[in-house]
Amino acid sequence: MLAFMIGFGVDIGGSGIKGAPVDLVTGEFTADRVRIKTPQPSTPRAVIKTVAQVVAAFYPDKPPPSLGITMPSVIHGGVARSAANIHSSWLNYPVADAFAQALGYEVSVLNDADAAGIAELHYGAAKGQPGLVIMTTLGTGIGSAMIYDGVLIPNAELGHMEIGGRHAEKRAAARVKTQKRLSWATYARRLQRFYSTLEFLFSPDLFVVGGGISKDAAKFLPRLRLETIIVPAQLRNQAGIVGAAWYASSRTTSDKS
Ligand code: BGC
Repeated sequence: MLAFMIGFGVDIGGSGIKGAPVDLVTGEFTADRVRIKTPQPSTPRAVIKTVAQVVAAFYPDKPPPSLGITMPSVIHGGVARSAANIHSSWLNYPVADAFAQALGYEVSVLNDADAAGIAELHYGAAKGQPGLVIMTTLGTGIGSAMIYDGVLIPNAELGHMEIGGRHAEKRAAARVKTQKRLSWATYARRLQRFYSTLEFLFSPDLFVVGGGISKDAAKFLPRLRLETIIVPAQLRNQAGIVGAAWYASSRTTSDKS
């Protein structure tokens, strides 16, 4: 059960901070999203100020019903416990408390890939999927979400799994394909190693592949040889916002019970 049928999500990324109100029945935005460039350096203070601007674009003088915020970090007990692709000053930063203090109300903070996984589970490629879903986002890094029978196991950092002595994301993130100008065949070989390892370790029921590159899924997914069904994400770049909005609303309900 969700507390509200409209939620608000904010997605903090390396280049943009995006937010929109979300209809939690359909998973669609109820208004065009607002995007403001991520301030540089992306220190907590500067980012928090920008998030406040994004929210104020829709809620100038009252708080949203609930607010969910994604970060590209491990978020444990409201505190950032990693800072792989963001400013290092986020490490060990009390993110949830700092947002609550700046905004004047409680917020829910979660990992960006966890939010994307939640969105796909409720509204997209993993809708109604029982068992273990592993969502992976291929972007600047590799994000991951593990969801078992609809319940998120938060903060799985599968992109940092060491394969052949290197973090998987250093070889197989979408950024690496672009930077090294890898062909689809070469990139698919790197992905094959990553997904085969995940398959061996976790025996999932479904892989969902998100991140901007998933729009080209037809160029690399058919090259992969896996036992597990692997499908592109459906929510594309809306997934973070939608998942954050759903998560915040679900927490508001359980906090009250
Ligand atoms: C981070 C994850 C994040 C992913 C995608 C990784 O480098 O460790 O927490 O989900 O990038 O942004």
